[in-house]
Amino acid sequence: MIVLGIESTAHTIGIGVYDGKRLTHKRHVYRAKGEGMIPRKLGDHHQQWFSRILKDTLDERELKPTDIDMIAFSQGPGIGQPLQFGCAMARYLSLKVGAKLIPVNHCAAHIEIGIYDTGIDDPLVIYASGGNTQLIVKDKERYRVLGETLDIGIGNLFDVLARELGLEYGHGAELERLARNGRYIESTPYSVKGMNTVFGGLLTYAKRIKTKYPPEDIAYSVMHNAFAMLVETAERAFWLTGKKGVIVCGGVAQNSMLQTMLDRMLSKHQTMCGKQKVRLGIPRNEYNGDNGAMIAYTGYELYQKFGDKATINPKSAVPRPRWRIDQVDLVP
Ligand code: FE2
Repeated sequence: MIVLGIESTAHTIGIGVYDGKRLTHKRHVYRAKGEGMIPRKLGDHHQQWFSRILKDTLDERELKPTDIDMIAFSQGPGIGQPLQFGCAMARYLSLKVGAKLIPVNHCAAHIEIGIYDTGIDDPLVIYASGGNTQLIVKDKERYRVLGETLDIGIGNLFDVLARELGLEYGHGAELERLARNGRYIESTPYSVKGMNTVFGGLLTYAKRIKTKYPPEDIAYSVMHNAFAMLVETAERAFWLTGKKGVIVCGGVAQNSMLQTMLDRMLSKHQTMCGKQKVRLGIPRNEYNGDNGAMIAYTGYELYQKFGDKATINPKSAVPRPRWRIDQVDLVP
C-alpha cells in the first residue's frame, strides 16, 4: 500500500511517500521578508511549487501517480488559503488516480512522526510551533491536552519579535542566533497559569523596551522566559503523568536553548527521585518542521487501524482550519 501525504497548513508545501517500510519526502518553505505570513501569498507559493515537489517526490521513488493507493492530506488546523489549496490538490489527485482520501490532523501527525522517529511510544509530548504550544498525552481513546498557550503560539512570539527587532527574516532561528550574545533583563515578564502559558505579555513588553536595551538582550530575555514557562508547565505535566519519556516536536523543537533547559529539568527529576533515566526524544530536523512525510506516515497508520472508516469522500472533502487535536478519534 503506497500512501502519498500532502502538507499545506502554513508556510510549507510538502509531499511525502510511505509504503510501510520507507519514508521519503520533499518540501519547499515560504520565507516572508519583513512581514508575517499573508494567507494569499502562502496559497500562491504552494501553487507555484506543488507540481515540482510532487514530481520530485514521485521520481525519487520511481513511482507514477497511478501507483498511489491513498492520498493523505493535512485537513487542519491551519491557515485558510494554504489549507484550501492542499485540500483541492488532494481531492483532485484522489479522483484522478482513483486513490482513497484520508484526512489527517496536522498536530497528530507531528506527534505520530515524533513517536516513529524517536521510538518513545508513550511520551509526554511538548508540541511547540508557530501556531501551537501544547502539552499532550495519548490514551486509548484520545489525545489529551494537559496545558496549552492561552493566546499566541511560542513560535509566533519569536517570529513577530524577530521582525520587531529588525531581523531580515522573521524566524525563530534568526532570533536564536541574535540571542546567543544577549544578557538577561531582570524585569522580563513571566506568565504561567497552572499548566497553561501566556506569551502575549512578553511581546508587549519587548515592544515597550525596544529602544532602551540592545536587541540581543531582548531576544535572549524573551526566549529565555518563554522557554522557562514552557519547561515549568512541562515539568508539572511530567510529574502528574509519570511518563518515562518526553518528546518535543514542532518547528520550535529544533531550538537548542529549549533542548538544554528540558534536559536540565529531566536530569534534576532523576537526581531528586533516583528514578530510571527519562528519555528526551527530539525527532530529526527533517521531521520537525512541517513536512509531507508525517502526513503520509499518519495516513498509512490510520488506514491500518480504521480501514475505510479513515477515508472520506473526495467530492465533499473540506479543510478544518480549527480542528483541535483533542477532537481526533483514536477508536473507530
Ligand atoms: Fe506544524
